[in-house]
This record gives sequence, structure tokens and C-alpha cells, in this order.
Amino acid sequence: MRERDTPRTFRVKSFGCQMNVYDGERMAELLAAEGIAPAPEGEEADLVVLNTCHIREKAAEKVYSDIGRLVKAGGEHPPMIAVAGCVAQAEGEEIMARAPGVGMVVGPQAYHRLPELIARAAKGERATDTDMPADAKFAALPARRKSAPSAFLTVQEGCDKFCTYCVVPYTRGAEISRPFAELVREAEGLVEAGAREITLLGQNVNAWSGSDSKGHSLGLDGLIRAIAKIPELQRIRYTTSHPNDVSQGLIAVHGEVEKLMPYLHLPVQSGSDRVLKAMNRSHTAEGYLRLLDRFRAARPDIALSGDFIVGFPGETEAEFEQTLQLVAEVRYAQAFSFKYSPRPGTPAAAMEGQVPREVMDERLQRLQAAINRDQLAFNRASVGKRCSVLVERKGKHPGQWLGKSPWLQSVFFEGDAAIGDLVEVELAEAGPNSLAGRLLETAVA
Ligand code: 5AD
Ligand code: SF4
Repeated sequence: MRERDTPRTFRVKSFGCQMNVYDGERMAELLAAEGIAPAPEGEEADLVVLNTCHIREKAAEKVYSDIGRLVKAGGEHPPMIAVAGCVAQAEGEEIMARAPGVGMVVGPQAYHRLPELIARAAKGERATDTDMPADAKFAALPARRKSAPSAFLTVQEGCDKFCTYCVVPYTRGAEISRPFAELVREAEGLVEAGAREITLLGQNVNAWSGSDSKGHSLGLDGLIRAIAKIPELQRIRYTTSHPNDVSQGLIAVHGEVEKLMPYLHLPVQSGSDRVLKAMNRSHTAEGYLRLLDRFRAARPDIALSGDFIVGFPGETEAEFEQTLQLVAEVRYAQAFSFKYSPRPGTPAAAMEGQVPREVMDERLQRLQAAINRDQLAFNRASVGKRCSVLVERKGKHPGQWLGKSPWLQSVFFEGDAAIGDLVEVELAEAGPNSLAGRLLETAVA
């Protein structure tokens, strides 16, 4: 690679989960602290960071086509390209070999070292950094400066569960919990920077553990209670949880901490115990349902959400129907469903009985129809309720605003409001993906 100027502008493009969104924001803050400015809207950036996802499908292929497009659009002066995120972690060396336009590859645990890699790329050296230094990253990142009303805060990373379909233990590494004091400080910083809602993030967020200043050990419920004490913070959420790490304390906190929103994303993946076993989920469908009963007992209006995989190797029609049965029983407020995608290096990719694409397509359609039915029913049942809405952005029409209800529904309304306000609305009309609300009063934000 030839020598080149140090970039003056950057753009970070994030794919995949909310944790990648969080990482993308932190990379942007890091680059800004280095004196590199965000590229103005519609202008090419000198440095493009592709923050990639590896969870499903041909994520890597997408990265190559993005790289190709950037190189082509740049003509004589292509941008410096950094490939970050989970594809970088899983396929870094391959990317370097296949895509000469890429200046650097940086894994999700090493992106605090971007400035070094950029300096090397400016000297014409291509470099890969996919180390996994435990917890060093967060300490090396600059403090939070500006925040949207709804902010993410990564509290836990990685996963030790090894579900047989999942690439996360390989791309994000072993489970680590960030220290309590550091998290409280970051939450306070986010609130000072404008956040009114914080979503605590982790691949396995309810496995978070730590200890307070007196040395008492804490679980996620303890962290939620501590963060709830920040006066200007109005709302707390957390995602994604694993059924096996749910503690009684976490269930109880839903009934006790008002700022914790009545919403739970608890993936189950399948309604068949045989499939759950083959997935190495180490819980049964029945165990999962009884766990939900306990959450509902603590917080009767809790909105439930989940993830599903259809067409896991060996899944029969009867087993798939057990998933439909589970969905019918839970009546999710929202749920996400995916076709099984064999991930290189995972045990399930080598299993017999891979399900044909047409069968997966058909099952996905049926499952999504069931989920949509329940989602619409949930939204319809909300009509007439009065609730708070945190205003996140302007709507399409003049005077219209868009925000989220406590149950994470998108709510449109018209009237006197501003981004970051927590307003009171009456839910008036329901669609499958959003509700229309009537503004009752502007509450203090
Ligand atoms: N194929 C399809 N879906 C997957 N997920 C994770 N790995 C795979 C895979 N190999 C889904 C799970 C998980 C969500 C984040 O993505 O449902 O909960
Ligand atoms: Fe995708 Fe998983 Fe990486 Fe998130 S952690 S970006 S979902 S592969």
C-alpha cells in the first residue's frame, strides 16, 4: 500500500445488533477525539469504517460488495477502509488477502486501537488487530459527550453458552462483565450528555455480575437499582437475556423499580425440546413458559419479546408446529424470527438433516404471520391506555413526533413537544408496527 494523508473525515457504517450500534458510536467518539471529523451528509469520507455483523447469512459477502463499491466510487482517491466488527474478527486474514482496498481490520475487542492502525495505514502499512484483551477497550475510550434521548450502554460482552448455531462465542469471545463503578459513571455521563433512557446491553446481559463499593456482589438487578437512582434518568431497559441466567432478583426488580420499563426480550429459539437440546439451549419449552409466568406475576403488563430460528438441522414439521404452539401460548408483543443459517465453525453447521430452503421459507412465513397477528392484537389492546412516550425524533408530517411507549411500541402524535421530552399520551389507533397517540400533557423531561 502507498503512503497517504491522515484522514480528516470519517464515516462509520454499522450493521447487525444494538451492540454494534453502541460500538459504532464509541468508534465515532474515538475518531472525533483524534481530530477526525464526521463527514458532512452527502460527502465522501476520507476514512470509512465498516462495522460488520456475522450472525446470519452471507454477511461476509456483503462486506466485499461494500468494499468494492467504496473503492469504485472513490476512483483515483478511494477512502481508507477499516473493516471492524464480527466479520473482521472471524475472517480478518481472509479479508486482508482478498480485498487489497482494505487498509485495516479491527475486531470488536480491539477498536480502541483504531488511532494506531490509522497512523500505520497512513504510512502505507496494512494491519490486522483481532486481539481480545479483556476489558482494556472501555478504559481506553474517551468519555461520552453527546447522547440521543435513548442511549445504549454495553455492560456485558461475549458468551460462554455455546448454542450450537451461534457464532457469538467465537466473534465476541468469553463472557466479561464491565465493572460496576465504571458503568455507573458511564450511565451518569450519558444522562449528562442528554440520555433520558438507557438500554443496558449484553449478548447475555442477565449474566452480568459485579460488586459495589462495599464489596457486595451484585447481579443485573443490583445494577438496575443503582442506575435508577440517577435523578434525570427516566427509563431503563436491558437486552438480550438468556432464560438460564434469570434470577429471582431480576424478576422482582420488574415489580419494584418504576424506571424499569415493562418489556422483556427473552429468546427461546424453538418450542421443541428435542430441537432445544440439539441447540444446546439447556432449558425446555415448559421451563421457559413457567419463567414468563413469574415475570408476568411481578409485572402484569409486561410486554414479551423473543427470537426464533426456523429450520434448525433436523427440525421436523411436528417440531416446527410446537414452536407455533408456544407462540400462540405466549402471545408476544413483538418477536424476531430467522431462517437457520449455518455459520462456519459452529457445531450445527456440520449436523445432518439440513433443512431445504423452500421448507425454511414456508415455515418462516407461517411463523411470521403468527407473530404479526399477536403484535397487532397487542397494539390493539393498548388502545385507550394512557402512557408516557419518550420523544426520539420528528415524524414525517409537520408538527408530528415519534417516540416509544413503555412497551417499546412506536407512537406517533402531534402537538407541542421536543426531542428528549417525556410526554403523556392516550393511545388512540393501532397498526401492526405503530400506534397513533393523542398528546395529553407535556411532562418534565
Ligand atoms: N441462524 C439463524 N439465526 C441465528 N441467530 C443466531 N445465530 C443464528 C443462525 N446461525 C438468531 C437467534 C438469536 C438472534 C440474535 O439471532 O435467534 O437470538
Ligand atoms: Fe452480529 Fe452477533 Fe456480532 Fe452483534 S455480536 S454484530 S449480532 S455477530
